[in-house]
Amino acid sequence: MPRHDRSLRDALRVRASEITDETVWRSRRRLLASLGALPALGLAGCAAAEPPPPPTRQSPSREQVEAGFSTDETLTREADATGYNNFYEFGTGKADPSRAAKTLRTSPWEVEISGECNKPGRVSFDELLAGFLPEERVYRLRCVEGWSMVIPWLGVPLGQILQRFEPTANAKFVAFTTLADRAQMPGLRYRSIDWPYREGLRIDEAMHPLTLLATGLYGKALPQQNGAPLRLLVPWKYGFKSIKSIVEIRFTERMPSTAWNDLQPREYGFFANVNPAVDHPRWSQASERRIAGNEGRLLANRIDTQPFNGYGEQVASMYAGMDLRRWY
Ligand code: MTE
Repeated sequence: MPRHDRSLRDALRVRASEITDETVWRSRRRLLASLGALPALGLAGCAAAEPPPPPTRQSPSREQVEAGFSTDETLTREADATGYNNFYEFGTGKADPSRAAKTLRTSPWEVEISGECNKPGRVSFDELLAGFLPEERVYRLRCVEGWSMVIPWLGVPLGQILQRFEPTANAKFVAFTTLADRAQMPGLRYRSIDWPYREGLRIDEAMHPLTLLATGLYGKALPQQNGAPLRLLVPWKYGFKSIKSIVEIRFTERMPSTAWNDLQPREYGFFANVNPAVDHPRWSQASERRIAGNEGRLLANRIDTQPFNGYGEQVASMYAGMDLRRWY
């Protein structure tokens, strides 16, 4: 991804005058696909195949689940959590979002709920969260690039919110979309990603009590650079699954397409469970730089990466019998 991604860096070096008009780009991609050229370009992967359905599983006990809600590990400094970010809509540099995202208007904010549910609709931020009191959850966030943070978030379990829209039996997945507004998001000028940023979860993952719809951090409302006013947190998955500034939630029967998987399917799988045993094709995932405490970014400690980012007790049963090398 980002830091190490040559194709991406090259793409970003393209001068504005060379940037292909979207319709031309899309039809060129369609043409390549119809010629069967995409696999040769390294764009083949598990994207097209449907994963096996979730196993009938033994749910972890309430105590086991709640053990995942906090940690006594050293917290990341607020300045690092809010100053070293990935939010490509505002640029690809780690300091870009905290500088550029000030232009993101987070109120009023609406979210469209659609697809396989009995009560679809367009709701305001306040309607979506009405009746819920945000809880504090201290989660580890492990970026696929190899750094991690420990952050006290505020949020509401996503599953509790989703239930209100009454997903049908056909709802096998949930797809999420970020706002894509050129006027507010300078990074959209570059085709670093096929905007809008999109992510997805299997329905049982979306309903898991660890999965949070976050509205704040360090006891305050989310700053824009961290995905205000609403972002996902799936702490056992690589950070790119934790999509920011969500404007659309769709229940689907088929596995939805997702932004990073579309871009580099061999490198970024749909599941993206943190797994030290499965390397990224271009770097090892066995360890990570923990950005926490006074060491800050420059002196960050290198620590071993844990399977499921240390949340195995809570989530491993969802993947029982699944080949985690195939479904990375
Ligand atoms: N969501 C959107 N819309 N755009 C992004 O570029 N980056 C992802 C994820 N969510 C991203 C996003 C990645 S790669 C990571 S590691 C986390 O956000 C970073 O979250 P943070 O900046 O709050 O630490």
